[in-house]
Order: sequence, then C-alpha cells, then structure tokens
Amino acid sequence: MKPDVLVAYPLRPRHMEILADTYRLHRLDLTKGSEREALLDKAGPLCSAMVVNGHVTVDAALLDRLPALKLAACSSAGFDLMDLPEMTRRGIRLTNTSDALVDDVADMALLLMLAARRRLVQGDAYVRSGEWGRKGMMPLTTSTSGKRAGIVGLGNIGRAVARRCQAVGLEVGYFGRRPKPDTDLPFFADLTKLAAWADVLLVTTPGGAETEGLISAPVLDALGPQGSLINIARGTVVDEPALIRALQEGRIASAGLDVYLNEPNPAPALVQLDNVVLYPHHASGTEETRDRMAQMTLDNLAAFFAGKPLLTPVN
Ligand code: DGY
Repeated sequence: MKPDVLVAYPLRPRHMEILADTYRLHRLDLTKGSEREALLDKAGPLCSAMVVNGHVTVDAALLDRLPALKLAACSSAGFDLMDLPEMTRRGIRLTNTSDALVDDVADMALLLMLAARRRLVQGDAYVRSGEWGRKGMMPLTTSTSGKRAGIVGLGNIGRAVARRCQAVGLEVGYFGRRPKPDTDLPFFADLTKLAAWADVLLVTTPGGAETEGLISAPVLDALGPQGSLINIARGTVVDEPALIRALQEGRIASAGLDVYLNEPNPAPALVQLDNVVLYPHHASGTEETRDRMAQMTLDNLAAFFAGKPLLTPVN
C-alpha cells in the first residue's frame, strides 16, 4: 500500500507526477475553508510525511491536525514560518533544500546590487520611452567596483555572494554571531560598524525571531547617503518602514529587494520609490534550481520511507 503524504505546497508538475506514482497524495494546497478542514479531518491522521515550502505556516494548530506526522520535507531554504522547536518537541523531522539554490540566489543579490546602483530599470525605461532620443544621456549613476560590500550572515549563500562581490571588484567584510574560522574576510561583531564601513550591505541571513528588524534605522543611517541595501533573505530582517523613510529622504542611495514584509503585496510607499529595484521573491526561481529543489525534496521523502538517513536534515 502506498504511504499517505500531505502536500501543503505543490512541487513542479513532473515531480508531482512522481509523487503521485509513489504515494497516496492528499492535496491541501488545492483546498480552502471547509474543504481544507474536511481534508485535514480525513487525511491528517493518516499522513506521516508532508511536502511544504517556506511560504507555508506550520504551527501547533496545524500539527495538532497531523498526529502521525514524522517528516516535513520543505522545498525551500527558509523555514521561518515553521515552529521548529514545537516540531522537534513532537519528534517531527524537517528537511530543507538550501544547498540547491545557493548560486541562483547569490546571482540575484549581485544582479540587484548592480541594477540598483546603475539604475538599470530607469535606463531600460529611458530607451523604450524615447527619452534618450529627446533628452540625450540619462543622469550619471554610481560605481560598484572599488567599493566595499558588507555581508550580513556568512552562511553558504553569504559566501557565494561574497565571492561574486570580490569578482566585480568589491572589498568584502561580514557580520555574524561569531567569526568564521575558515575565512580571512574581515569580521565585524557590530553591524552598525559594518554598515559604516560598507558602501553596500547585502542581507543573506535567515529570517525568524533572532534576526527580526536587524537592519534598523541606525544601521541604515550608518550605511549613509551613498549606500545601497540589498535583501535576498527575508522581509522581516529589515525594518521596512525605516528603509522606506531612508530611501524617501535620501539617507541611503538605493536598495534592491527580493523579499518584503507583506508578500505578495509590498507596501505601496515602497512600490512608488524609484531608487529601489524590486523582484517578486523569486531569487531561486529558475528551471534548474526549482528542479534541484523538488528532486531534493523527493529524495528526502524516499530516504525517510526507506528508513535511511535524511539527506538535508534541519533538526
Ligand atoms: C527559500 O528557499 O527560502 C526562498 O526564499 C523561497 O522561499
């Protein structure tokens, strides 16, 4: 008999087919309201595994409906909407897919940094609107090469961002809980000091309570009127109202954002600014990376049901 698996977030169609061939699927992602409740009543007690991603809230209320759950296979790097201590307390394992997306997410950080400082979006509009022909050259922009990048959180993604920054001629320093023994990059124990040192601050740290509001008004003020903030981590890491004010008042020069406090409808005041480049939380959104993430999720499920060690355990 096929094991029962709850799908709270769908994988790619090809991977959903493989899932459906291997397991008896219960698609919570297709249900809402009373249908969702009915599905949880019926399938909740049967499912020992579920497929989720970072956009799904997994709290005690959901876990209460899943008394047989032993594995949450998460198809994303971030799991800040999941109550990990509660899952661990209940003996539920969590896997994620952070290794699969490092390069694409780091590429996006680089892209947002260069686009923000070189005003790529305005340049594109300038050509398309015919303003180039009518007015001549667009206003000058700001160099990146020869400047300093401050990486906030030197995990795998932070390191990949650091390598890219070095490749385009930036000096790199980082902030974290403690210095990493395996790097010579300058470590800053004080985030405000890193911001004051850097021309660009790139946020790559996980979301969650520990990092909430880390990029505060004083940090933005330390970054200064020539500085740029790039966030490919989680919206919660940045004090977004403070960021909006800093951009409006020119207390920092520009920002490049893939993540927001309110997704998928970021703050209207942010969307109106022209010194910020916005991307729809899609840094890992390439065919190749999403394939790898889905495959890693399938492999973790297969290992779990075969009684083998999980490939990418979180807890
Ligand atoms: C991740 O994998 O955490 C990305 O941000 C998508 O949620």
